[in-house]
Amino acid sequence: MIGQDISIAAELLKKGEVIAIPTETVYGLAGNAFDAFAVAKIFEIKNRPRFNPLIVHIKDLDYVPIIANNVDERLMHLLKVFSPGPLTILVHKKPIIPDIVTAGSPKVAIRIPNHPLTLQLLQKLDFPLAAPSANPFQYISPTSAQQVEEQLGNKITYILDGGKCQVGIESTIVGIENNIPVVYRLGGISVEEIEREIGNVVIQINQPKNKTDDETVITPGQLKKHYAPKKQLIIGELQQYINQIKDKKIAYITYGKDNLNINSSNVTIYNLSETQNLLEAASKLFETLYQIDQSDVEIIVAKLFPDKGLGKSINDRLKRAASS
Ligand code: TXA
Ligand code: MG
Repeated sequence: MIGQDISIAAELLKKGEVIAIPTETVYGLAGNAFDAFAVAKIFEIKNRPRFNPLIVHIKDLDYVPIIANNVDERLMHLLKVFSPGPLTILVHKKPIIPDIVTAGSPKVAIRIPNHPLTLQLLQKLDFPLAAPSANPFQYISPTSAQQVEEQLGNKITYILDGGKCQVGIESTIVGIENNIPVVYRLGGISVEEIEREIGNVVIQINQPKNKTDDETVITPGQLKKHYAPKKQLIIGELQQYINQIKDKKIAYITYGKDNLNINSSNVTIYNLSETQNLLEAASKLFETLYQIDQSDVEIIVAKLFPDKGLGKSINDRLKRAASS
């Protein structure tokens, strides 16, 4: 059922059920983070490998010391500056967080989501919410309640409808390794914004080369194939490919004032932002990929964005979608 009732949502969660919740980034599949059984249900519903840990969503900064130890002051500073918002920090966990949440890692990922309904919901609970994105493993993250309904509706009893997600791509994940700040996933807060606060960071968004997919990886969002639509996606400008694929139904993802000189009825153009606004483009990315996947398009061509700000995060999602 889709609804906007936080009391129903709270009751289900207190009973150990798993429900979908809205956040500013993407919808989450949430359960009581202190309850290993509830968390196990999340993995099952999502068909997610157990080595892939979950983010813990908390209501405010005061909650940090309840679940984390010795938080590095740079990470705490980032959390203060960007919360509630699309930032996740990776910190040492306390035993109250069950190992299944972190896939056995001594570190837990935490964030304060910026969505009024979910913040009100968290206020009603005396536990935080473990929640991955509410999509089947490796598919596109949902940015509306309807998308969750279509993908997982038969597996969960309640979807808390908070409308369309404003940011539209997942949170940026930051941690500290050997005393150096590391970005593990590009997301809704840009690298530039983070560096403005704490100085240079290392970007480590790909899986270390010596590890395979079924070993524990530092942040499994680093898996090469991720966020993938079912349709084939190739990266580049449409002009490069048009002659090779002209007998196919094509979706072209672009931005800005792209003066395309193509009079071919088999191309549908999806312009993510005519004014080249990267925030707008990010907010439309997954929704657009999802829409294209539902259509009769056979192949997607996507132009890369300028490699700065949220453009970096968008390009990261496009490149992973292309590597299937
Ligand atoms: O915006 C978001 O972060 C959304 C919303 C729902 O909050 N959540 C989300 O969760 O994207 P998920 O599970 O789809 O992606 C979380 C990423 C995964 O790549 C996971 O491996 C990593 O965070 N992660 C979570 N806990 C971790 C931990 N303890 N250590 C390392 N990586 C962790
Ligand atoms: Mg995900």
